[in-house]
Amino acid sequence: MATYLEIFDDDKGHELSLFCVPKHYEEDLDSVIIPNGLIKDRTERLARDIVRDMGGHHIVALCVLKGGYKFFADLMDYIKALNQNSDKSVPLTVDFIRLKSYSNDQSTNCVKVIGGDELSTLTGKDIVETGRTMETLLALLHDCNPKMVKVASLLVKRTPRSSGYRPDYIGFEVPDKYLVGYALDYNEYFRDLSHICVLSDKAKEKYKV
Ligand code: IMP
Ligand code: MG
Repeated sequence: MATYLEIFDDDKGHELSLFCVPKHYEEDLDSVIIPNGLIKDRTERLARDIVRDMGGHHIVALCVLKGGYKFFADLMDYIKALNQNSDKSVPLTVDFIRLKSYSNDQSTNCVKVIGGDELSTLTGKDIVETGRTMETLLALLHDCNPKMVKVASLLVKRTPRSSGYRPDYIGFEVPDKYLVGYALDYNEYFRDLSHICVLSDKAKEKYKV
């Protein structure tokens, strides 16, 4: 049984003109690779899988900012909807942490952690590329002796740079391209884009720091 939706390397994605994309980004994107509606549909199913697996355990959901904020908010909404509409429900509290490791399109060796007062169970993340960011955070979480730590990541990149790390819940497995939108950024741009899109090489130069 599949546990993630695979976007293949030869997938051309969708033409930008078929979707609503902010005018200021029209020139910067190659294609829409995951439309917002599909992200939501997949997230709804992840919520169901998580609630099923958690039994009656209290969930402390930890959002990894900034790139994880859209996925986290939608995932929480779907978990809340399940809690409201079924006989079984899981108590849910939230916390936020900020991690920073990227400059331009390159992962840096230094992962900075900012904030978060109670480090615990379900961690919601935007994308796992090498896995280094998540491994750093997991080491930190284990120092707090939580009962259980589960990681939900919307995206996992297929890349030879991977450390082999795999999250517990994966939305999509994606090609080794730089993706933006739905809170994923390139030097802080493109978080204000609803769909997940492939960034053009020209835009990488244009927004370089
Ligand atoms: P890792 O440590 O290599 O797994 O990188 C994970 C982090 O790098 C993510 O949380 C993102 O902030 C950033 N990142 C990696 N690939 C992309 C991408 O394609 N688009 C936007 N951010 C990315
Ligand atoms: Mg980033």
